Amino acid sequence: MCGIVGYIGNKQALPILVQGLRDLEYRGYDSAGISILEDGKLQRVRAVGKIDNLVSKLKDQNYPGTLGISHTRWATHGGVTEENAHPHFALDGKIAIVHNGIIENYRELKKKLEKKVKFISQTDSEVLAHLIGSHYKGSLADAVRQALAEVRGTYGLLAVHTDHPDQIIAARLGSPLVIGVAEGEYFIASDVTPMLAYTKQVTFLDDGEVAEISRENVRISNLKDELITKGITQIDWDQAKAQKGGYEHFMLKEIMEQPTVFEDAIRGRINMEEGTAVLGGLNISEDQMRELKRIMIISGGTAYYAGLVGKYAFERLAQIPCEVDFSSEFRYRDPICDKKTLVYAVSQSGETADTIMAVREAKRKGAHVRGIINVVGSTIAREIGAGSYIHAGPEMAVASTKAYTNMVALLLLNAIQLGRLKHVTQATGKRMLESLLQIPAKMNEILKQADEIKAIAKKYAQYKNFFFLGRGVNYPVALEGSLKLKEISYIHSEGYAGGEMKHGPLALVSEEFPVVAILTRNQLYEKMKSNIQEARARGARTLIIATEGDIEAAEVADDIIFVPKTMELLEPLLNTIPLQLFAYYIAVELGRDVDRPRNLAKSVTVE
Ligand code: AGP
Repeated sequence: MCGIVGYIGNKQALPILVQGLRDLEYRGYDSAGISILEDGKLQRVRAVGKIDNLVSKLKDQNYPGTLGISHTRWATHGGVTEENAHPHFALDGKIAIVHNGIIENYRELKKKLEKKVKFISQTDSEVLAHLIGSHYKGSLADAVRQALAEVRGTYGLLAVHTDHPDQIIAARLGSPLVIGVAEGEYFIASDVTPMLAYTKQVTFLDDGEVAEISRENVRISNLKDELITKGITQIDWDQAKAQKGGYEHFMLKEIMEQPTVFEDAIRGRINMEEGTAVLGGLNISEDQMRELKRIMIISGGTAYYAGLVGKYAFERLAQIPCEVDFSSEFRYRDPICDKKTLVYAVSQSGETADTIMAVREAKRKGAHVRGIINVVGSTIAREIGAGSYIHAGPEMAVASTKAYTNMVALLLLNAIQLGRLKHVTQATGKRMLESLLQIPAKMNEILKQADEIKAIAKKYAQYKNFFFLGRGVNYPVALEGSLKLKEISYIHSEGYAGGEMKHGPLALVSEEFPVVAILTRNQLYEKMKSNIQEARARGARTLIIATEGDIEAAEVADDIIFVPKTMELLEPLLNTIPLQLFAYYIAVELGRDVDRPRNLAKSVTVE
């Protein structure tokens, strides 16, 4: 999705904005631009492609100005061209704006404005710029508020005007904006990463808010110009944490971080004495939890596969029916949920448009809603106002890894907490919690095999198709492993329940169609083993994820990766890791843009 960075203060804006855009590259983009206020004039430079293209166009311009706005664009309206790149101008270059979101009624607004202004681009954002210009009568803030009152859609917006050299106007509805507060300077961005080198004191704008930002202060109001008081949040992510830490890619760093961030996920959330989980931020009483008749988990992509693991845990521990659905389906299918339903919205970014709308649908129907979110202060987190942050830290790679395992961790903790309110014994609860505490060390035992997994991956890198098979709680693991491979290596891959192969997919199996299967020691071991034998009998090459010490598994393996034993419900926390590394090393072998795979964005803030 698009990225926004603005700066007003006492330093040269240009380098701050350029680095800020680089910090936001992971959001996915296809063009970039910058505008600096210089001697009463708005300078603008835009470029298609990577930030480096913008930087090379800037090399002869060293604008000293201390106020500027900038943008990375992920095209939604209009092609990838310089004219469509932001910032967009209005009033003959007196106004510049950058915008993230979609103006749904831009056509009718454009028709009205076309009589007076000449449009350069095909974008809805330029319409917004001219709409603001059309309302300008001396106050940029008023012009922005009046323009936004006419808008239907979503926006994260920054606007500047040459007549107001000490002011940036920011506004948000549906697309996140954060204001970083420092001495005599303010940073505004789509998320905290561009400001962490300068400040960790931030204010999150909420929907419908407009901020008038000067070098001295920030005035926040709604569209009716009614003042709003906001608090400051202390962010505990430092810039280094959001960088690669010496790894070739963010994705590898984030895979390797899993033991550490897993500890962050469970820290302070375990009551070993009572054998239960301690989850704050509840918006539902224990009595209400005991009376729940249904649990629903809404999410997308990797978060959905984490949700599927949660299904097994909730049904086995809390014995409450649990339905997992794609947010994009849930929001349109008239879901059956009410005050006896607890809906979990699972999302790394907390900005996935489908999940935002699905949350609103669930609330509309009276369900209790709880978030399992990574990004602090994100839209979903703030709309729900209850639930748990997964504390995975900034996940910069488009392919989600550490957020997945931390989502699973939080779902397991929720299932333990709910189970202990019903019939799960203290002993069982304690045993699960003790097993959770052993997970980081067991994750490290797998991560130590990275070189061996890399060698195996190289042997499979040239195949064009893969099956990933799992049963029971490892079926979601197979789905997640398959997604990891396809989204970063661009190789076709399908995740399947092992028992399903005989109902058709087996027809695809051949020497050219390897099978990756999870065959860890649990109640479905023999069933899974025969599924693997069915595939091998048709020539498939097999890579097996097996429990360490299980020499029998080698009978059905061309290649094998061993993982430590753990309780069955906790297996996804371990069994997914070799699949993450397998996908990563194949993608590296194929020379893919691992952190920013083609066509994908880190946060899907549009439908
Ligand atoms: C995961 O590897 C993908 N990048 C994608 O499927 C992602 O999980 C999905 O878009 C959901 O994002 P969210 O967790 O931020 O809501």
